Amino acid sequence: MESKIKNICCIGAGYVGGPTMAVLADKCPHINVSVVDINQSRIDAWNNEDLTLLPIYEPGLKAIVRRCRNKNLYFSDEVEKNIAKADMIFISVNTPTKTKGIGAGQASDLKWIEKSARQIANFAQEETIVVEKSTLPVRTAETIQRILRETNKNNSLDKKKTFSVLSNPEFLAEGTAIKDLENPDRVLIGGEDIKAIEELKKIYLNWIDPSKIIISNIWSSELSKLIANAFLAQRISSINSITSLCEATGANITEVSKAIGLDSRIGTKFITPGPGFGGSCFKKDILNLIYICNYYGLKEVADYWSKVLDINQWQKQRITEIIIKNLFGTVNGKKLAILGFAFKANTNDTRESPAIEICKNLINEGANLAIYDPKVSSDQIEKELNISQSNYNEENFTDGSWESQEDLGCALKGSDAAIILTEWDMFQELNWAELTKLMRPPYWIFDTRNITKKNLEDLEGLNLWRLGIDQ
Ligand code: UDX
Ligand code: ADP
Repeated sequence: MESKIKNICCIGAGYVGGPTMAVLADKCPHINVSVVDINQSRIDAWNNEDLTLLPIYEPGLKAIVRRCRNKNLYFSDEVEKNIAKADMIFISVNTPTKTKGIGAGQASDLKWIEKSARQIANFAQEETIVVEKSTLPVRTAETIQRILRETNKNNSLDKKKTFSVLSNPEFLAEGTAIKDLENPDRVLIGGEDIKAIEELKKIYLNWIDPSKIIISNIWSSELSKLIANAFLAQRISSINSITSLCEATGANITEVSKAIGLDSRIGTKFITPGPGFGGSCFKKDILNLIYICNYYGLKEVADYWSKVLDINQWQKQRITEIIIKNLFGTVNGKKLAILGFAFKANTNDTRESPAIEICKNLINEGANLAIYDPKVSSDQIEKELNISQSNYNEENFTDGSWESQEDLGCALKGSDAAIILTEWDMFQELNWAELTKLMRPPYWIFDTRNITKKNLEDLEGLNLWRLGIDQ
């Protein structure tokens, strides 16, 4: 099947655009792929000779970039030039929740989408297929379509330009992005223009079985992405809501999760309890869903989904309170080691990480945090906490502070507690018999991911708290 598409441009070199285009370039050596971004330092990082300095940490990504970069995969800040060259343009820009104006706190801010659409309208040539990749509220394709049509109408010199807009939501999860992109459960394409749909389908057929490529109308496609995320988040809030009940009754959440997961109608995925879901999608998408439900007068539906977010919020608050209660009711002036700041393992992404809120709460209570994460930089932690870093000094600190530690031993030294917030593999293998010698007795481990080995209970002097397990 001969494809008309020779040049692809992706606007946005972030967690979605970067890995998605890397895999596409790897699987389609006959297509030139340019990933563009207005953030010059991000593009510089993508082009760094030293592949350990790519802006995104994702298992398997380095190897693909090594294979394809500057062969058929390019990273550039020349947005307009690359738009002009492209037969197909993916939009993968960020769409955070609005902070101001109508819909603030719920609706997505589409200003970056709008800007991209205007750039496409002005600089694209002849026939261009525009593919919506960012997670977006339903009916965003319509906005893009209108901007493209109206801008073009006013530009009489460009009568030959035509645009087709498709929705092709991304279902990758960070930390497993490459695996998810190489072997997706399904690829969803929404649209009306059959020829454009066929062109996008041909690209995916280079590595994906046709039975996994499904076509729908554009609104179903956009809504499916929101609903998939809402359902996944709902499962996590459901299991997290039961952690507190297990702690109260003496049941064990690991046993409950296993027992229910073996029912094939329920399944084993997304019922692992934790400190609350994070990441750039779940909260934003549920807020979007709540916003559109309210918009259509469906208050009960909006309230139902609000509860998924309420439980997520409560879980973080609850964990903070449990830590304080067990440390004799106060963390003021105490050193606490935080193990993990990323929102999940195998990523350097910290957006909406439950660690942010838990750390802020503890700092507010006067704790001095030593934060250790194998992939998150101290600048990133500072940005999220919005509190300057200050080095721990036993004598002077009772107002609450934090510092980033590159060495786990240094983080634990003199601490009253280790609080595991991200399920990094390395935290499962730690030699606590040795590490606890660095801590100040009576020492605690608070394991919010239930990854510590069972035999820790036998360690003399150790107090262990695990989520959803009778203490
Ligand atoms: C999610 C969706 O999975 C993906 O399909 C969509 O494209 C983007 O949003 P992502 O946010 O990258 O992906 O990661 P995911 O694996 O879904 O984890 C989200 C959060 O839920 C993390 O904080 C994770 O720790 C938490 N989680 C996940 C649990 O607490 N328990 C689980 O069982 C699974
Ligand atoms: P995601 O997780 O959705 O990929 P990111 O924030 O990681 O979100 O990436 C989105 C990227 O899109 C950012 O690097 C941002 O600089 C880029 N971006 C936003 N607007 C534009 C634009 N108009 N042109 C080019 N790049 C843009």
